Amino acid sequence: MSLIGKNISFAAELLRQHQLVAIPTETVYGLAGNGLSEQAIVSIFEAKQRPFFDPLILHIKNIEAVETYAHWHDSRLKTLAERFWPGPLTVLLPRHKVVPDLVTAGSNLVALRVPNQALTLRLLKELEFPLAAPSANPFGYISPTSAIHVEKQLGNKLGYILNGGHCHLGLESTIVGVEAGEVCVYRLGGLTVADLEAVVGPVSIQLNQSDNPKTPGQLKSHYAPRKPIYLIEDAPNEVLAAANFGYLSFGEPHLTVLEKASAHYNLSPQGQLKEAATNLFNYLRLLDESHVKHIVTQFLPNEGLGLAINDRLKRAMAK
Ligand code: TXA
Ligand code: MG
Repeated sequence: MSLIGKNISFAAELLRQHQLVAIPTETVYGLAGNGLSEQAIVSIFEAKQRPFFDPLILHIKNIEAVETYAHWHDSRLKTLAERFWPGPLTVLLPRHKVVPDLVTAGSNLVALRVPNQALTLRLLKELEFPLAAPSANPFGYISPTSAIHVEKQLGNKLGYILNGGHCHLGLESTIVGVEAGEVCVYRLGGLTVADLEAVVGPVSIQLNQSDNPKTPGQLKSHYAPRKPIYLIEDAPNEVLAAANFGYLSFGEPHLTVLEKASAHYNLSPQGQLKEAATNLFNYLRLLDESHVKHIVTQFLPNEGLGLAINDRLKRAMAK
């Protein structure tokens, strides 16, 4: 069991002692430690059972803090940060020496983000260092969108959980960098491609899906429940016939599937993508923790947040 509450000074004290604290953000909860402390960073990797080749995002208090850790090598990334921070945007920038190798997994680029969550922003302003924070889930599992999710899986490895309630967005940040002169999206997330393009014009999308990615973190299997998850059209007949599956639907559910399902969650009965994003990880967890043996789902429309949600579903199915 870990302590849970809203005590920012207590959280800051633990972090100064190189301990780990879970922090709420508008996207998902983070497992935070002092981003300049090798001891704290090693504890993060150990608590998550995360391979050291998968680098961490540094969370900073404001856009001015970027200059301490990295430099703006492309004005378009700065324009995006000015427009969307605090918010669900992570930028990859050439790092300064002060950033430990462990944070970037040896890469010359560091990932930076200013989260949009009142408690966490106050905490960052109180601290003398940035917070390295991956999503607060065991490596490869579904990201946490409430303090209870964190407590259930990592409670015994944490000093404190700063409780910010449910995450407003429920999907991780969109990760953006520059490659061959083009603004590139490496992870689809809470900020849509249309949001980005409205500010900097056309961007390219590079979502590697491999087991041994060049850009770490684009692992093919990720965000995954422990139970097998299938698209309706790919589900083996015996799964549908045995009627011991849970159905994760969107909009009008398929009645033939609904009839057989022994649990059912609708991401958004009215077909709203924003609502679906907020519910996605919570419903996947509820199904994973329920009595059902399999999960059956469907893709959402491939537009706006639907692109990021479908990306998470594909990775969840890739086991
Ligand atoms: O919304 C979010 O981004 C949440 C909250 C807590 O801020 N954080 C999060 O962290 O999702 P994590 O570690 O679960 O995912 C971060 C992704 C990983 O896929 C990692 O490989 C990638 O960012 N990443 C981090 N630093 C990188 C770097 N220097 N170069 C390339 N990819 C990087
Ligand atoms: Mg993660």
